[in-house]
Amino acid sequence: MEANSREPVFSGLRMAVVAAAALTLLLCQFPACSAAGAAAACDFPSIFNFGDSNSDTGGLSAAFGQAPPPNGETYFHRPSGRYCDGRLLIDFIAEDLRLPHLSAYLDSVGSNFSHGANFATAGSTIRPQSGYSPIALNVQLVEFSDFLARSQYFRSQGGVFTRLLPREEYFSRALYMFDIGQNDLTAGLKQNMTIGQIKASIPDVMAQFSDAIKKVYAEGGRSLWIHNTGPLGCLIYMMDRFHLEAPEDEHGCLRTLNELAQYFNARLKEAVDSLRTELPLAAITYVDVYSVKYNLITQARQHGFQQPFKACCGHGGKYNFNNSRRCGFKVTVEGKEVVIARSCKDPSVRVSWDGIHFTEAANRWFFEQIADGSYSDPPVRLNTACHRMGHQSMV
Ligand SMILES: *[C@@H]1O[C@H](CO)[C@@H](O)[C@H](O)[C@H]1NC(C)=O
Ligand SMILES: *[C@@H]1O[C@H](CO)[C@@H](O)[C@H](O)[C@H]1NC(C)=O
Ligand SMILES: *[C@@H]1O[C@H](CO)[C@@H](O)[C@H](O)[C@H]1NC(C)=O
Repeated sequence: MEANSREPVFSGLRMAVVAAAALTLLLCQFPACSAAGAAAACDFPSIFNFGDSNSDTGGLSAAFGQAPPPNGETYFHRPSGRYCDGRLLIDFIAEDLRLPHLSAYLDSVGSNFSHGANFATAGSTIRPQSGYSPIALNVQLVEFSDFLARSQYFRSQGGVFTRLLPREEYFSRALYMFDIGQNDLTAGLKQNMTIGQIKASIPDVMAQFSDAIKKVYAEGGRSLWIHNTGPLGCLIYMMDRFHLEAPEDEHGCLRTLNELAQYFNARLKEAVDSLRTELPLAAITYVDVYSVKYNLITQARQHGFQQPFKACCGHGGKYNFNNSRRCGFKVTVEGKEVVIARSCKDPSVRVSWDGIHFTEAANRWFFEQIADGSYSDPPVRLNTACHRMGHQSMV
């Protein structure tokens, strides 16, 4: 369990949190920090997000068809472009920052971008891949640049645009979030690459990721919040596909795939360290969501959850998951459409929503774990992630 529950790079993190809190006390001076010694809240006026289905709030749905019911049933009470019964981690982050849920950039109906935009789409990869969302990270960056320029042109025209588009300063003061990479790993698996071959591709994946971060920085982004990738080997769609061939850990997760995810995360952490040196004005927070997700899946009962290895919404098989009958799958019986991949009775105690994505309840739990900085490097609270540790605070 030790080996998997936390990346080696994170051992002793909680001690580091304490040490950093003490350091902040020493380094903090007005006006960067409040009198109490805690870093001042950043007052983020907006969020711009890049990613895959872990943070898609309607992008893929707008372009390729809605995520079908029962997606959305718990919170929105209708499909909401999310692969979830309710809110995603990013929704809880937005709420905590007292910002509205993010509209998907691609969604032309009912969207409001006054406090940011979401460029994430389900199936997105860092490196463009066939068979995945065509809206890879590079395309998301093009969309962002376009949005930046055009939103300011239209905002200057006045009228309703002033209530639909962000103020100019909301770009430099925004929190820029990234949660992407899971599909770069699964793309390799889908192409029957060996684990070694996938690992060998990761430096190029990281180079493209770093390019994206530098583009955001060049456009004026300063506060960057980066999620690492989750425990792929504990996700049902991977277990369903590989359980006969791959060795399991003591919890039943696929060891090889978790090691691959951890390898990716170690390279991501190195890339982030280099970016901190290259981008002197950026405050970059690396968030270890891998450990948070692994902890919930492998200790579900202790945290009040049940059946972490059964999809809440699905149909059949060992994990209530069948890749060709995913959540919301319908059949026609006597001329009538009937949903056969339905939701479970109580999603609020379940971890996996559809075998790939998490339930709202799990997402809320993840949010509660990461919000105070316990899983972050540097260990800053979400609402103080604009401070470059040890730099701004010494001014
Ligand atoms: C967009 O959302 C903001 C913040 O919630 C709100 O103040 C504004 O009125 C909304 N715009 C429109 C056109 O409803
Ligand atoms: C991967 O291997 C499987 C099983 O051997 C095969 O059915 C599939 O076509 C292969 N996929 C590719 C992209 O080569
Ligand atoms: C999954 O669904 C397909 C039909 O879409 C079916 O042929 C197959 O047997 C199912 N697999 C399991 C494990 O139930």
